[in-house]
Amino acid sequence: MEEILIYDRGMVISRAVAGSLEEIAARLAEMASGSTSLHVVCDRNVTHVAERLFAEVGDGVPDAPGMFVLDASEKNKTMGTVLDICGWLMESGADRNSMLFAIGGGIVTDMAGFAASIYMRGIRFAYLPTTLLAQVDASVGGKTGVNYNSYKNMLGVIRQPECTFICADVLDSLPERDFLSGASEMIKSFLIEDGGNYRRAVDFMSSLRSAGDRKAFLVSHRDELSALIHAAVGVKAGIVSRDQFESGERRKLNLGHTFAHAIEKNARSAGLDITHGEAVSVGMVMAARLAEKTGYAEAGYAGSLKSELDSVGLMTECPFSVQELVDAMRKDKKTEGGIIHFVLVAGPGMVKIEDMAADRAAELLK
Ligand code: GLY
Repeated sequence: MEEILIYDRGMVISRAVAGSLEEIAARLAEMASGSTSLHVVCDRNVTHVAERLFAEVGDGVPDAPGMFVLDASEKNKTMGTVLDICGWLMESGADRNSMLFAIGGGIVTDMAGFAASIYMRGIRFAYLPTTLLAQVDASVGGKTGVNYNSYKNMLGVIRQPECTFICADVLDSLPERDFLSGASEMIKSFLIEDGGNYRRAVDFMSSLRSAGDRKAFLVSHRDELSALIHAAVGVKAGIVSRDQFESGERRKLNLGHTFAHAIEKNARSAGLDITHGEAVSVGMVMAARLAEKTGYAEAGYAGSLKSELDSVGLMTECPFSVQELVDAMRKDKKTEGGIIHFVLVAGPGMVKIEDMAADRAAELLK
């Protein structure tokens, strides 16, 4: 099985392990054999993945007391749900040597990781992400948490999963819009560090878009998709290894996100349905526009990035005014003393962090 290691000052703190469900089942059984009990939190939409996995694991796991099945949504990504998971862990006898295993998208892994981090001051946990977004971003790097008072991910901790298992096979039936949401984060990673993968990812996603039968395309191009996921996880693992707690370089992973969070906040208030990846895609185009205005990117770069994201099928037009975005940005949890760490992009592999007040960004973008 292919492994990507995440380090902190030379020590391995987490790993992403890619393989088939069969291989993952065997590895999970091996890992969990050191624990008193294995507790599974699973998104309701992917209980079939849990069933397939546990049919493979068979008797190999220690006491596995049922499953906590979650209806995952931003609305129930709350402390209440995390406490429900903790309550269930208590009822099912989890002790300090138990292990929690989460199966689902980023909402599930964020909440399960948070619950595992606070239950008895922290128990072992691992993830099997089932969306492209969670595979390339959410489930790697240790960010856990919940929304609070309409602010996204306001409460949480950074604590690394022991292992994130990556399996491209589980993505075959992911709805197109969810897949695209992950494609946006993947493209973001390759804009940060290209390594020849940016063009490869855009080409792959554009071909998928024009394929008559998406599922057949994904099955016949699984190796290419796995390689792209692996490369994207590699980018993130490298950055997290150098700056786990986001005091510098990790901020680059927020490319497009300053705008995206403001778009998502406005969308919630306006009752518009915009996915995280769609907002990130629009945000990356806006980051390129800002880069042009500051002189970091060449004139016209934002237009070419927009065309590439359009070719993939991503959203690229912002439904809100710059002023509406800036008002939301001022309240973003990442705004420090009125200053925002904007990530500017000038091309694949060309990003830089520029600290700027929201009003200055608004002036430049108007
Ligand atoms: N999703 C950005 C990060 O993990 O830092």
